[in-house]
Amino acid sequence: MMSLLKLSESKWRLVLSALLVCAIVFESDAKEEKTTRGRTSTPKKATNKRQRAEMVKAKTKLTAAAQTKTSLTQVLGRGVFKKVGETLSVQTGDTLSLRCRGKPVQWSVPLYVEEDEGRLVIVQQERFSLLTLVNTTVADTGEYTCFPMYCEDKDCRREYNKAIKVFIFFPDPRELFIPSSSHYEMIQLRSNWPTVLPCQVTSPEAKVTLHREFPPGEVSVDGTEISFNSRKGFTIHRPRPHHAGVLHCVAALGNLRQSSTKYILIYVNYPMAPPAPVIQASSSSVAVGGNLRVACSAVGERDVFIEFNWEYPGQQIGRPLYTEETTIPVSEEASRQQFQSVLQVDEVRDVDQGTYTCTAQNLQGAKSVSTTVKVVPKTRKLSV
Ligand SMILES: *[C@@H]1O[C@H](CO)[C@@H](O)[C@H](O)[C@H]1NC(C)=O
Repeated sequence: MMSLLKLSESKWRLVLSALLVCAIVFESDAKEEKTTRGRTSTPKKATNKRQRAEMVKAKTKLTAAAQTKTSLTQVLGRGVFKKVGETLSVQTGDTLSLRCRGKPVQWSVPLYVEEDEGRLVIVQQERFSLLTLVNTTVADTGEYTCFPMYCEDKDCRREYNKAIKVFIFFPDPRELFIPSSSHYEMIQLRSNWPTVLPCQVTSPEAKVTLHREFPPGEVSVDGTEISFNSRKGFTIHRPRPHHAGVLHCVAALGNLRQSSTKYILIYVNYPMAPPAPVIQASSSSVAVGGNLRVACSAVGERDVFIEFNWEYPGQQIGRPLYTEETTIPVSEEASRQQFQSVLQVDEVRDVDQGTYTCTAQNLQGAKSVSTTVKVVPKTRKLSV
């Protein structure tokens, strides 16, 4: 109260108007509660995909409601709500009901759920969005997110920083892993990126270990080089060539022990950045009948391939592309190489005048550089 007394008159007005807004919000909340209860007894079905999409992407003007704090609750029964934490376990076969405050909001659900027509119903109500998933299975396990939308007229965007996520497990006493459609899964081990082996369990209590096929044995999981998270699977934080091979996870819970899909990990040397090519023509002006060389080069990591593509004026008249590609070690640094492509134009004609563009590309991206070449008349040899 002491601090309130110190407030100036204008601040007081703000406080009072805020209180008034709160009162209105509380009142409309109470009304909403009633309509929600009324509706849960006769759930509205929206199996039509378009209809659902429209509801998910409901576009409305920015209202006071959109600015209220997002909250996510689980609907346990008529008028019984429970605020959700980071994770939630729902018995397989049960109906999942989540209510997210906000208008409008968007949901993101695991891919398996998204693709399953009919079991998922999303209804946008006055101040809440209600997600209902019936006949749940272990495969529905995953992250469910509610994104409040920020709208200005008809433009709405997700407010990622206000999103609320909950990871929902659907435990099944017979299935410890979320089933996969294939027995093998290929995974790229990128030199510059953590790799995830997505052996997700259906129960957070399952004990999970990682195993290698050859030589057969358990892989030590130290939490630093490799770590495990029941919501994600195993993460190899800094992939190295020795991590490659065939791996699988084993989950144990009670008397049950199950193996996951096999993961074939293939090591790929990934560049740190897109190449930065440099272009250089043998001469900026060349005489008709002469020869032109345009060199494009880029320095990159050793064993990380850089591809060159060319655009040149002679293309229009069908002049074939003739290039010579070389790789030269960079003397000071053993880990780096210079890649070069030299475009060769023999017996230059007028049509070869113009812009020469080289695009250098690696797995991280591409960059183009250009140079222009002028074609000048043949210098006449003076006969003596
Ligand atoms: C849910 O399961 C029940 C019982 O098997 C079935 O009758 C109903 O059609 C299912 N509902 C959906 C939406 O799949």
